[in-house]
Formats: sequence, C-alpha cells, structure tokens
Amino acid sequence: MRTELDLDKLGQTVQQLYGFKQGEVMSAIVHLGNRLGLFDALAANDGATSDSLAGTTGLHERWVREWLHAIAAADLAEHENGRFNLTPEAKATLTEPDHPAAVGGVFGPPITHREIDRTAEAFATGIGMTWDEHGADTCHFQAAMGAAGQKTWLVPVILDSIAGMSDRLAAGATVVDIGCGAGVAASAIAAAYPASTVIGMDPSGHAIEAAQARATEAGLTNLSYRQGVFDDLEDLDGVDLLLTLDVIHDLPRPGDAVRAARSCLADDGVWFVADIKTRGGLEDNRKIPVLPLMYGMSILYCMSSAMSEPGGAGLGTLGLTEGVFGELTAAAGFGSVDAREFDVDPLNRYFEVRV
Ligand SMILES: C[S@@+](CC[C@H](N)C(=O)[O-])C[C@H]1O[C@@H](n2cnc3c(N)ncnc32)[C@H](O)[C@@H]1O
Repeated sequence: MRTELDLDKLGQTVQQLYGFKQGEVMSAIVHLGNRLGLFDALAANDGATSDSLAGTTGLHERWVREWLHAIAAADLAEHENGRFNLTPEAKATLTEPDHPAAVGGVFGPPITHREIDRTAEAFATGIGMTWDEHGADTCHFQAAMGAAGQKTWLVPVILDSIAGMSDRLAAGATVVDIGCGAGVAASAIAAAYPASTVIGMDPSGHAIEAAQARATEAGLTNLSYRQGVFDDLEDLDGVDLLLTLDVIHDLPRPGDAVRAARSCLADDGVWFVADIKTRGGLEDNRKIPVLPLMYGMSILYCMSSAMSEPGGAGLGTLGLTEGVFGELTAAAGFGSVDAREFDVDPLNRYFEVRV
C-alpha cells in the first residue's frame, strides 16, 4: 500500500471528489427540471430559447436560462445561438416514463438533512432507518430505479423462465409479492395475467399508498395490497408464486423471513427471489459497475434497513451471496435453490426456490 503523496494522483483525487459534488448538485438540477416540467416542455419544443421556454412553463426567464445552461453544460441538451434541443437520449430517459431506459423518477428530491442526521446517529447507536422512515419521496425514487425493467422484461423474460409458470399464471394462480414497494412488479403481473390473484405486501405505509394508487389508475381488479411483513406470510397458504425483489438484504431477520416464506407456499409453489449479484467481499465486487453507488445506497438505505432493529443481520446491498442464501434456505428446509442470471438484468441474480 502506498504512503507517499503522488502529485498527479492528488489532482485526480480532487477532480474525483468534485465529480461527486457535481453529481449531488446536478441531481438537484435534474430534479428541478422534472418538478417544474422543464424537460417535458423542452422535449416538446425543439430549438426553444429561454424566453420561449419561460413562456411555455410560466417560469421566470432568468432562472430558466441558467437551468438551460446547466443542462447544456452537462450535455443533456445541445445549444446553438441561444436555442436548445434536448438530446434524443435525454428525451428518452427523462421524458418518456415507459421507455425501457427511463430514469427520470430516480431524481426525486435530494437526500434531506434529517436523513443525514439520522444516519449519523445510526453510526453511533447501530440502529438504522426503515425504508418507510425515509418518507414517500424515497419510496418513489426506489421504485423508479427498477421500474423500467420490471415493466419491460419481468413478465416475458424472467417469470417465463420458470417451467410451466406462464401457463399456470394464465390459468389463474395466487401470487404474492412480499416487499412489493410501490407495486410496479405486482401491477405488471396483474395486468399480464387477469385470471390470477395478485397480493402485494409491504410494511411501509408510503409504499402501500403508492402501490394502491398505481393499481387504481390502471383499473386492476385482481390486485390488492396490505401492509405487512414477512412474518405475516405465516397467515397465508397455497401460494403458487411468491416474489421477493431486492428485499432479503434489507431485512434485520432474514432467517425468520425465509422460514415464513416456506410456510405460505403450495406444495408445488415457487419462491422467486431477486437480489444484487454480489460476490460478497469488497475486492470480489470490483467488477460491479457503480460499486460506490451500491455501497453508498447500502449505508443510506439497505444496510440501514437491515440494522433497523437491535441485533439486525445488516447484510446490506451487497450482502446476499449465493452462499448466504443457500444457508438460509437450507436452514428453513427448502428442497432446491436454482440460481439464475439474465442478460436483461445485469445487476441482479435470481433464485428459483422450491419446497
Ligand atoms: C429495495 S425495496 C424493494 C421494493 C420492490 N420489491 C422493488 O423491487 O421495487 C425493499 C422493500 O422491502 C420492504 N421491507 C422492509 N422490511 C420488510 C419486511 N420485514 N417484510 C417485507 N418487506 C420489507 C421495504 O419497505 C421496501 O419497500
């Protein structure tokens, strides 16, 4: 390990750190663009000027001009002689919510001082925040991170890979999505399989409210939600498909959760689990793109949630390896665990678990 100061590397490190600051600031600028309708208005008006955009949006020209300069500086828009065009890629990702590459929803309001204070406290007390404690905005941004994929390929690619499952769902099956968050996946399944009954469960009131609103808007009558945790699965039985998408690493008591999952399944039922494709150790995970984002998200959200009860397991975003999940499922008496990877979802590993 190096101990001497390297002046070239010093410059690179300063640049890297300012890159982090730029990310924080530009996240807020993108959020403002979403919130004020500036991206949508610009997408609808190629060659807009700050005057014309201020007119369309009813906003103050000086502020709109500075915002345009910021997004053009960030290469989200092209600029010529005071006229601005959103790039086609920024248009697709920021103004088309159903585009498979949509990311606009990820830019909710920035992390609040309250969350930072609460997290600083957690470093001292050991007790983290539940997802619900972060509030409704975090619930929406979390859902937006997986939404494009869950809408596009969860049903036709991922669920279709489970032998016989598509036919079973088409004929009418009982599906439970535990830790359903804002209900993007549950809605996609309920819409694709109207003969099936889909139940979404999550402890977060914010999540259930958002999920219910989504189901109502889509007019889905075969989908219902209830506030609940893994332990509540023990009140259910005969579940054909239990889904758990990016939840196990967030749980303070994953062992109890896996046992509860087993108790609700039909004899020929499937528990289908997605979790981050981790190898466990820091150096083993170097190949994961956006690794600092993953560890950062873990501190702020995932590990925090997994430490939100005294004695929490604290697996965190990168904590559920194949080995750890194998031990948990074996201890709960599951018969088989088949790990899968899909090209459409390079970030997650999937497990098909059977009694
Ligand atoms: C990372 S989010 C994933 C949400 C959703 N499955 C998705 O893919 O967007 C984790 C979710 O797990 C929920 N959760 C936390 N503890 C739980 C528990 N004990 N039982 C069930 N869900 C839990 C949180 O409220 C949160 O909505």
